[in-house]
Amino acid sequence: MARKTIIAGNWKMNLLPVEGEEMVAELKERIAPRENLEVVICPQMALVPLALDWLYDSGIQLGAQNCAEKLAGAYTGETSAELLKVLGCHYCLVGHSERRSLYGETDESVGGKTQTLLNMSIIPIVCVGETLEQRESGAHFDTIGAQVTAVFNKVDPEAWTRLVFAYEPVWAIGTGKTATPAQANEIHRFIRERIKELAGEIVANATSILYGGSANASNAADLLGKSEIDGLLVGGASLKAMDFSQIIASFK
Ligand code: PGA
Repeated sequence: MARKTIIAGNWKMNLLPVEGEEMVAELKERIAPRENLEVVICPQMALVPLALDWLYDSGIQLGAQNCAEKLAGAYTGETSAELLKVLGCHYCLVGHSERRSLYGETDESVGGKTQTLLNMSIIPIVCVGETLEQRESGAHFDTIGAQVTAVFNKVDPEAWTRLVFAYEPVWAIGTGKTATPAQANEIHRFIRERIKELAGEIVANATSILYGGSANASNAADLLGKSEIDGLLVGGASLKAMDFSQIIASFK
């Protein structure tokens, strides 16, 4: 099964309604839907219902940035996967490093959220990656291996082929420092090997693994050209239609 290429924009806590609407309007003018490429926009939660409208008939998919592990109930401030589904989200990021480091998300809770999303037929984009300290001490393989393993421990085998991963080295996020395409490809290959050990070759070959961390119009083509890199998760450069459309255009 050919893996899907996905280019997803993570707007994080940026853009107000007017700005988001303008960005999407311009993006729609700049890009045309392509069969072999899925473009996704993940706005902050309150923009999601508006964005569904902005994206109507564009072929661009809607994603969220986070969801609750629990299904419903007394969880003030949380958003359920069921609501995301009703609001038209096809994708949801899980375990972004900002959620892990600032909001205490653990490998366990990331695994749980992933299963909750899959129960709602939302495709989770599970973010994994090491800190600078972990890379410098040589702990990056163990860290990433544990992050990936925790997901497979929690997710029902029948849903394994619906997982998407994003490798985002924490030291490359928002810093302007990208992993070199070779460095990223090495980790992607390691992730795919780990998936193969945990879930078998069919699942490993079917799983899209995106790269994220200072991806931009200048490095996108080189990153996307690597055999193990199946797309990009773009933060800062997804906020402007011009930048994001150039990244999309660099996928051949
Ligand atoms: P960046 O963010 O592209 O701004 O580095 C990527 C991300 O955090 O998803």
